[in-house]
Amino acid sequence: MARVLAIETSCDETAVAVVEAEPSWPAFAPRQLSSVVASQIDLHAAYGGVVPEVASRRHVETLPFVLESALQQAGLGVAEVDAVAVTCAPGLVGSLLVGLMAAKTLALLYNKPLIGVHHLEGHLFSGFLATADLRPPCLCLLVSGGHTSLIWMKDYGEYQTMGRTRDDAAGEAFDKVARLLGLGYPGGPQIDRWAQQGDPNRFPLPAGKLDHPYDTSFSGLKTAVLRLVQQLQQEGRELPVADIAASFQACLTRVLTEKALACAEALGLSTLLVTGGVAANRELRARLLEAGRPKGLRVVIPPVALCTDNAAMIGAAGLCHWLRGEVSPLDLGVASRLPLEEIPALYSKGGRDYREVLTGSAVAL
Ligand code: KG4
Ligand code: ZN
Repeated sequence: MARVLAIETSCDETAVAVVEAEPSWPAFAPRQLSSVVASQIDLHAAYGGVVPEVASRRHVETLPFVLESALQQAGLGVAEVDAVAVTCAPGLVGSLLVGLMAAKTLALLYNKPLIGVHHLEGHLFSGFLATADLRPPCLCLLVSGGHTSLIWMKDYGEYQTMGRTRDDAAGEAFDKVARLLGLGYPGGPQIDRWAQQGDPNRFPLPAGKLDHPYDTSFSGLKTAVLRLVQQLQQEGRELPVADIAASFQACLTRVLTEKALACAEALGLSTLLVTGGVAANRELRARLLEAGRPKGLRVVIPPVALCTDNAAMIGAAGLCHWLRGEVSPLDLGVASRLPLEEIPALYSKGGRDYREVLTGSAVAL
């Protein structure tokens, strides 16, 4: 049984988890022994979005307590894990650095290998934590506040981005439209709630046509909602919040569903994994499940706690690399952007004794 301690601080959640797994390829069924997430949402709500500098400072304050709590819940000490995994890209550079420095410190103190993890690869692995018989190849629709991507997972560690957003991520569009409607931050859950009582056909909105079959663009949709709101306000009418929320949500979820299904079909894939914060959206879940059924497409949507940012998913991805003999060098840095295709650059085969690296007499194990 292999175990990792995992740290995630790429945006506004300070998270630590302990995850274990047995090598059983081609199946990979990691199990979380603990997963603690301290959200900063309340801190950033006053600004209507994440303030990077504020986020980094809060990570510094919170991380020691989250770490202690995750180890306590797992009933383990750092000495009892095999490696330390940490998100190193993409994300807010200052926030990523807090997690990476903590992980490097633990790796050095306890002489454990360091495993840098790509945040989006982490999201993919929420599927393996949630569904024991999930295995590649599959298509992943990753929809969060920062990303809207269709990722073809060919095998463990082998990915190809098939579609991405040209402008706003899906969650970002939810948040911006919620702000236009005077709803709070984060806006996705609010729109989801208001849309339940609204008429999705009242306001026809543009889907944003693109020349690429799987890329998305939601800025036109967002601007259309802005114009609609301005027009209604000029006419002195009360905003039909529920109908606007329902019309916007219907348009956005229809686009995501159509693109994901078309991509899965074109690649001949029979499994669609949906993850990221927007995977919590009830209409998106319902649409994907309903559209997938007649096509024989298995739609896997992990529980919300695994879809939103957490360290268990980072631990699961880190474990997969560890079990394949891939560890990161101790001079690993952070990056605000990193294509999924460049994940192999984060690892070197074989491990290193970091204490020996420090004393200048490194040996490859
Ligand atoms: O994955 P996540 O927790 O954080 C990152 O962006 O990495 O995703 C947060 C995003 C926010 O934009 C939030 O508004 C959106 O997910 N979200 C939702 C729902 N719950 C969260 N969007 C639509 N419907 C929801 N129920
Ligand atoms: Zn995320």
